[in-house]
Amino acid sequence: MQKTIFGYTHDGRAVHRIVLNSGTARCGILTYGGALQFLEVPDRNGDMTDVVLGFDTVEGYQSQDKYIGAIIGRYANRIGDSGFSIHGTKFSLFSNSGPDHLHGGKNGFDKKIWRAEEVPGGVRLTLESPHMEEGYPGNLKADVTYILYGNELAIKFEAVSDRETVCSLTNHAYFNLGGQGSGTIENHLIRLNASRYTPVKDERCIPTGEIARVDGTPMDLRRPVHISQNIEKDFDQLKYGGGFDHNWVIDGQPGELRPAAEAVDPDTGILLAVDTTLPGIQFYTGNHLDGCPPGKGGAVYGNRHAFCLETQFYPDSPNQPDFPSAVLSPGEVWSHTTVMKFGVEK
Ligand code: BGC
Repeated sequence: MQKTIFGYTHDGRAVHRIVLNSGTARCGILTYGGALQFLEVPDRNGDMTDVVLGFDTVEGYQSQDKYIGAIIGRYANRIGDSGFSIHGTKFSLFSNSGPDHLHGGKNGFDKKIWRAEEVPGGVRLTLESPHMEEGYPGNLKADVTYILYGNELAIKFEAVSDRETVCSLTNHAYFNLGGQGSGTIENHLIRLNASRYTPVKDERCIPTGEIARVDGTPMDLRRPVHISQNIEKDFDQLKYGGGFDHNWVIDGQPGELRPAAEAVDPDTGILLAVDTTLPGIQFYTGNHLDGCPPGKGGAVYGNRHAFCLETQFYPDSPNQPDFPSAVLSPGEVWSHTTVMKFGVEK
């Protein structure tokens, strides 16, 4: 593990970058937001390709609002009307997406400086989020460990709280398997191991509460399809999201590491397979990237120039009785793992 100073925040705090090198792949992790700043994997010719969006400076990270590469918490995705109740006690959260709460609020885990320590093959990041921060009950301690092994990047998420709270941690990497800054990802093939998804009510993207089958809809991605083939289909859900921006229910047993998603860029041949223990996955096609400041090496990041595969509890679970519960009780450990496996298609 190599740890160097990456830069300083507006208020003068040092941000470190930790570089992991497995021999076949390399990645950089920032203590700012726990962000995956670069991830280089070989393409089908063996050329190293950086497949994630990011910035060359701390200023770049602080001047954008797209959550690029960051760890999201305390609750990834949306909580409708910025509130929820546990046993009749109501908690109000910060509204940062119209009337709703998105990705942990105003000063979520993506904007925190994490402590970093070396572990075999990787780095463990730690953060303490005090009781009532952003409105969430309980002092929460979060641990996120990145391990790079061969062409696999594993992320292990753990959290404990001293009171009942809600928790859903994810990584918000934006991928472009053609290389960051290479333009649209609409040529990529996507496959999701999901027979069901959680439809949303409208453009606010709050789930209706229904768990719907994908059969016969453009949300059926169980066989590989080109993103461009389905994304413009005449289907209300795609209009609400401005493209794909939905949670799919991963087939199989939550808690068990199982295949969730696979994407391939036919040009570079780079393939990404995501496995997770989490119940759901947000497939988001970067529909709101326009306006993003210039990325690494001056790269332009516009709409649909990257996609995200955010493993998670379903959006708005704290208000949805039929969704798996995201409540974390004292004495329990919130523990989930997501693995990103890279390969090439010849
Ligand atoms: C959400 C998008 C949102 C983006 C933030 C994604 O996880 O699903 O709706 O715009 O994060 O840039």
